[in-house]
Amino acid sequence: MVTLKELHKFAVEEAVKVDPRDDETIDKLLDRRKEKYEDMDEGPEKKRFDKDRLDNPYDDTKVLYGGDREISKVAVGVDVETQDLVLIDRLNERGSGISGAISHHPEGRGLANLHEVMKMQVDTLEQVGVSISQAEAIVRGRVDEVRRGVHSGNHPRSVRTAELLDLPYACFHTVADNHVNNYLESYVEEKDPERISDLLEVLLEIPEYEWALEYDLGPTIFNGDKKNRVGKVAYDMTGGTELSKKRLEKMAQSGVNTIIAMHMSKDQVKEAGKQNINVVAAGHISSDSIGLNLLLDKMVSEFDIDVVELSGFKRVSRL
Ligand SMILES: [Fe+2]
Ligand SMILES: [Fe+2]
Repeated sequence: MVTLKELHKFAVEEAVKVDPRDDETIDKLLDRRKEKYEDMDEGPEKKRFDKDRLDNPYDDTKVLYGGDREISKVAVGVDVETQDLVLIDRLNERGSGISGAISHHPEGRGLANLHEVMKMQVDTLEQVGVSISQAEAIVRGRVDEVRRGVHSGNHPRSVRTAELLDLPYACFHTVADNHVNNYLESYVEEKDPERISDLLEVLLEIPEYEWALEYDLGPTIFNGDKKNRVGKVAYDMTGGTELSKKRLEKMAQSGVNTIIAMHMSKDQVKEAGKQNINVVAAGHISSDSIGLNLLLDKMVSEFDIDVVELSGFKRVSRL
């Protein structure tokens, strides 16, 4: 048997293995947090400090309720919010026997701190050739914008629902997104598509993207032409949420020709047009499903758990 806390710890460890940053960068980040925590004055901030942050670099990946409870059947969804928790409780009334819920998109404290994981995008930008000072400037401004943006949310709502229903609850965000980012990077590099049309074709060989066609949500071109050459690719699948459109000019200057993203906002697509960067939107819910599936494959191999799919999540096993 495994507890929700143990599943969470396992997910964090596996995500570090496929993180775009190296281990040393992550260790340094955790060391800095520990020092800061030790230097904190006694008071309400220290009392309420989330000690999970001292070992877990992913602030959008949290146990939200019932960490010590044993999990045998877990409901997994892209968005598990109040209504989905009520659905799970309804299913349990009919005898489903679900013992816990995992949301991909962050909830509770995980959403309130989403901006923190965006800092890893300094590293992903640097990896495609953007200089560190430019990358830091782009990321810093956007982190603060997201921090202010999420501050108004009703984050205790879904957590309180889980408490009232007494249903163990967690969110696994960047830990899953790291998996899809890493997977797509090796997959596309290996297939080495020449034109955007070839890229779309190889993406459709991935079962989750083929499944997305059922909803007309398959991989699609947001900017560029299917005859364009793919060239140097940047992967936009992890790191919390989208950066500002300023990144695109810097990416173009560093030689990026194509971005493969889960999705992209209107402003960014417009800027990609100006910068002549091809944008392939692989699909949001399907890409999130790939990340969750890769992580779940590891989880079910290690622990005796069953998975129930809901809220947009499509389970595909690669075992
Ligand atoms: Fe995601
Ligand atoms: Fe997502």
